[in-house]
Amino acid sequence: MNTLSVNQLSLTYPNGHQAIQNISLEIKNGMFGLLGPNGAGKSSLMKTIVGLRKPTSGNIIFNGTDVTQNPDYIKKHLGFLPQDFGVYPRVSAYDLLEHIAVLKGVSDKNQRKNQIINLLEKVNLADFRNKEVHTFSGGMKQRFGVAQALLGAPKIIIVDEPTAGLDPEERNRFNALLNDISRDVIVILSTHLVEDVRNLCSEMAVMNHGKILIQGNPGALITELENKIWSKPIDKNELKQYTLHYDIISQQLIERALHITVFSQEYPKGFYSVQPLLEHVYFHTLTQKP
Ligand SMILES: Nc1ncnc2c1ncn2[C@@H]1O[C@H](COP(=O)(O)OP(=O)(O)OP(=O)(O)O)[C@@H](O)[C@H]1O
Ligand SMILES: [Mg+2]
Repeated sequence: MNTLSVNQLSLTYPNGHQAIQNISLEIKNGMFGLLGPNGAGKSSLMKTIVGLRKPTSGNIIFNGTDVTQNPDYIKKHLGFLPQDFGVYPRVSAYDLLEHIAVLKGVSDKNQRKNQIINLLEKVNLADFRNKEVHTFSGGMKQRFGVAQALLGAPKIIIVDEPTAGLDPEERNRFNALLNDISRDVIVILSTHLVEDVRNLCSEMAVMNHGKILIQGNPGALITELENKIWSKPIDKNELKQYTLHYDIISQQLIERALHITVFSQEYPKGFYSVQPLLEHVYFHTLTQKP
């Protein structure tokens, strides 16, 4: 079993912006979902875990080693798929993987070749191994990203918004791939797609303004909202009035009628009861006043 403990971690950027504020997390094998809106601090947290940013305070312990002091230790066991991969050099998929494998310390030539061929099969790119990566579609680039992240048999894999920009079919394929590899390793998935976390993750956290607002098992967090979520179609002119009296967690157009969904411990007159979803957990967490 692999364990990653993040302890009272803070990160302030050189311009003074505090992107991570006193975060603590304990993550074990399986898939961990990190949800949060744009600017929440997800990428900052991931960059700090992988050693690209040095925290201002706190530490990160991976399998017993303090990797804030010893970043090479996590790098040796890490697969990272960053949010922005940047520019691809004009070399074939195979050659690029070969290059990355060398950097990751897979020094035996035959072993390297076997690993690359297996990974290209796994991510469905074997037929494209001689094509240059910059000519790939978005989905193919993401699958290539997974292949490079998996080189060197990592124990911890970090993927930052991997399905952004993928069509539904590619997204399903990509998620199935992540699910497949998460059995014996830690996979941390950062996303703002609540549905992906619901489908894939056994543990999750919601982050905003550099803080963890809630964490736990998605199913258990949903159960806590049982009999507390209510909806009602309203006239859009009444919205202001409802905002004053109810804890509105979302507004939705259903067949052109505006429905509001509220959090309430007691039955609010005139509303209908709604089966809670992870989406409600997410929006309720984000709309709660600190
Ligand atoms: N290098 C930097 N210097 C200063 N501030 C930064 C830097 N990188 C990010 N930030 C700021 O830190 C905050 C968190 O950014 P971060 O990229 O971690 O958010 P995110 O949750 O990954 O957002 P997104 O969903 O848009 O990717 C934002 O306010 C951002 O503007
Ligand atoms: Mg980000």
